[in-house]
Amino acid sequence: MPVYGEKVMDHFMHPRNVGEIENPDGVGDVGNPVCGDMMSFYIKVKDNRLVDIKFKTFGCGAAIAVSSIVTEMAMGKTLEEAMTITNKLVAQELGGLPQNKLHCSNLGADALHNAIKNYLEKTGQKPVGEKVT
Ligand code: FES
Repeated sequence: MPVYGEKVMDHFMHPRNVGEIENPDGVGDVGNPVCGDMMSFYIKVKDNRLVDIKFKTFGCGAAIAVSSIVTEMAMGKTLEEAMTITNKLVAQELGGLPQNKLHCSNLGADALHNAIKNYLEKTGQKPVGEKVT
């Protein structure tokens, strides 16, 4: 049985920014090949900043906590800043995850980055630098 920290439990029990944005500026989907769980991120962008972020996650408790904290970490950030949020940083921000649940944190930043890439593509803008580790 994995032991979750307080912050993970808080974000799992009370996830922030759950749902879908109507007419989003960008959408990012990822699936976890290890367990088949899925995560979708929806973003609204104004003046190059993330002004709204929502997520839908069909996954384990860790994946839900990860999604929730990613929305908090990225809200209000510029697209460039949001692209520097890595999966490792997400796990750190949650106070760590049990070893066998670390793969769950690999979805969060990827889904956010995919939503930003989708927005940039749709608006014909150049990709911005992405940090992946
Ligand atoms: Fe699937 Fe955690 S077990 S994301």
